[in-house]
Amino acid sequence: MTQKAWPVKLPDYRLDGKTAVVTGGTKGIGYAIAMMFAAFGAAVAVSSRHQEECDAVAEEINRLGGRAAGLAADVGRPRQVKKLIRDTVQILGDLDILVNCAGVAVTKPILQMEEEDYDRVMDTNLRGVFFASKEAASVMVEKGHGGRIIQVASIGALKGTNQISTYCASKAAVLSLTKTMALEWSRYGITTTALCPGYVKTEINAAQFQDPDFLAKTLKTIPQRRLGTADEVAAAALFLASDYSSMITGSAIVADMGATSQ
Ligand SMILES: NC(=O)c1ccc[n+]([C@@H]2O[C@H](COP(=O)([O-])OP(=O)(O)OC[C@H]3O[C@@H](n4cnc5c(N)ncnc54)[C@H](OP(=O)(O)O)[C@@H]3O)[C@@H](O)[C@H]2O)c1
Repeated sequence: MTQKAWPVKLPDYRLDGKTAVVTGGTKGIGYAIAMMFAAFGAAVAVSSRHQEECDAVAEEINRLGGRAAGLAADVGRPRQVKKLIRDTVQILGDLDILVNCAGVAVTKPILQMEEEDYDRVMDTNLRGVFFASKEAASVMVEKGHGGRIIQVASIGALKGTNQISTYCASKAAVLSLTKTMALEWSRYGITTTALCPGYVKTEINAAQFQDPDFLAKTLKTIPQRRLGTADEVAAAALFLASDYSSMITGSAIVADMGATSQ
């Protein structure tokens, strides 16, 4: 029997031959994304502020038969970010995908928020995203092959949330940047998207979720009555990195178990 061709073009879900940088790639959601991308064939630069932790994740990927390098950088420092992007190209050969996943939150009411709390959140969550995206896009433009820039934002970008004002403001600003980047960079074949996860239990919120009352109250606001997992967020990031998402740019993709549906 002869095989009939499907009447649709099947793009590639795999990332073979692609090189990705994942900031915040040593823990939580970023770790899951680095592992998922490596499992789907990408070479991955794993980054956070701590070189030993970057090396440990890179070694894990290499042991499993993937290809990775651990490259430490503080995303709040543009010079370190530039070095991260340039070193990735030098060590892994190119850059096709950037995932800005490094993020921090300071949990306090606005009336108690200090200048250093504000700066810490904005430097990591906004300045980091701005300069890492700029440096990655420069390489993609130089190389002439386009690419994917994925911001890990949050549902905090879409609504106010008690005690994490600066976090929500930083993530909302990231959604705005995602749109302008789409306007400026579509001509170079670069797509920019903002992935907005709902609650996933990681180090960033472990202290709050240890409180059973907080957990119970949070679950009541989530139609699926559960927290998400880092692997589920990574699966959405994989879709955004793959050829399947080629017409999506400038958009926020919400993966929140229905939390912002009301
Ligand atoms: N967990 C959730 O419920 C949730 C929901 C929506 C969105 N998000 C977003 O998802 C992203 C990952 O969060 P997570 O929950 O996986 O948190 P996490 O487990 O605390 O991981 C944060 C990662 O960012 C790195 N990092 C922090 N500050 C950095 C800096 N200045 N420069 C470079 N790396 C830095 C951390 O490594 P070092 O500290 O070693 O540098 C770590 O690898 C964040 O952007 C967060 O806002 C999380």
